[in-house]
Amino acid sequence: MKSKEIAKDLFYVGVNDRQKSLFENLWPLPAGVSYNSYLMIDQKTALFDTVDICYADIFLKKIAALLDGRKLDYLIVNHMEPDHSGSIRMLKEQYPDLKIVGNAQTFKMLEGFHGIAEGLHEVKEGDTLDLGRRKLQFLMAPMVHWPEVMFTIDLTDHILFSADAFGTFGALSGNVIDTEMNADAFIQDSIRYYSNIVGKYGNPVQRALKKVKDFEISTICTLHGPVWRERIPEMLSLYERLSRYEAEDGVTIAYGSMYGNTEQMAEAIALSLSEHGVRNIAMHNTLKSHASYILSDIFRYRGLIIGSPTYSNQIYPDIESLLSKIEIREVKNRYFGCFGSFSWAGAAVKRMGAFAERMNWETVGAPVEQRQGTIAERFDDCWALGAAMAGKVAG
Ligand SMILES: Cc1cc2nc3c(=O)[nH]c(=O)nc-3n(C[C@H](O)[C@H](O)[C@H](O)COP(=O)(O)O)c2cc1C
Ligand SMILES: [Fe+2]
Ligand SMILES: [Fe+2]
Repeated sequence: MKSKEIAKDLFYVGVNDRQKSLFENLWPLPAGVSYNSYLMIDQKTALFDTVDICYADIFLKKIAALLDGRKLDYLIVNHMEPDHSGSIRMLKEQYPDLKIVGNAQTFKMLEGFHGIAEGLHEVKEGDTLDLGRRKLQFLMAPMVHWPEVMFTIDLTDHILFSADAFGTFGALSGNVIDTEMNADAFIQDSIRYYSNIVGKYGNPVQRALKKVKDFEISTICTLHGPVWRERIPEMLSLYERLSRYEAEDGVTIAYGSMYGNTEQMAEAIALSLSEHGVRNIAMHNTLKSHASYILSDIFRYRGLIIGSPTYSNQIYPDIESLLSKIEIREVKNRYFGCFGSFSWAGAAVKRMGAFAERMNWETVGAPVEQRQGTIAERFDDCWALGAAMAGKVAG
């Protein structure tokens, strides 16, 4: 058995999951996902996080092969979500003298999930741990997904262990470090990962980024996806932008439609956007595109136009669900437009207007409401909405 050495005496012992269809049972994994873990072999040995319990067997074999009879001194737990903490109990059974390193919050969860309350080494902000040649320092990064999250920095080789931060979907195909591969697809999907998984926590991400700025960083070991080296500046600036909800010029159009009337309005608006110079137009039928891709585009682009038929005096259920996902993430500063079709008493468009108010967004252009399917009558209104939005985002 062979494991990749990603820096001197630091080995990648993560696993690839190409079986699971949905991450957190919600988010599609067309290219799988990796659960990363790293083993440092110094005078003391230290493992950084574990993997999903489904892969515990192969994970433990990799570690045993590298340790080659030595004992495992430390497990550093940067994140307790079960995709990373799932194998802790089995690891502890195999290495009973192991010291588990975490903060007070980590240990509450460790007891709750695994019933482990002994053999703990508690750390606080700025504490350090000597492994021999290497020295580690711990920085708290609460709510960079969960409250117990912390970052660990190897001060010797300037390696940041960043928990879920800078992570992305997609299993690793042999290559682990960005310098060994074309990482474009991972970077692309890291926006979807961020907006779906971490998107709500802009301020905590900002605080964590600020702490990291005080350190020289040569390598980022995240818990999902490639180890970052040459593309660190790109990832840092992406996180800067996403955590401030800063967006590019462009428009996401998301609509639901049962019989095509709302859909035809969406087509008219898209055509108008194009005629008025908008290059980036991401159009989604919400019944067809998974919400994770729509959210990703909403994080990416400044403009958002949503279309919904009226359904039992409400917003169409699938659109309602999308609005709730946006609201949960507290997406800020979007230009908003809305439209929809009804047959006897329209309600969806009015309700979407109320949504935009709750979000504190600027509504652009006049909302377009259409009785049944007389697109000819409303075409000009759709065109005007597209033109108004283009005025804001065409760049
Ligand atoms: C189950 C159901 C409930 C509906 N509820 C309403 C309603 O409360 N008020 C209304 O004006 N139209 C209602 N409609 C009619 C649709 O809003 C209307 O036909 C609209 O044009 C559908 O747009 P679409 O072609 O984009 O699906 C309902 C239609 C269905 C199938
Ligand atoms: Fe997580
Ligand atoms: Fe994770």
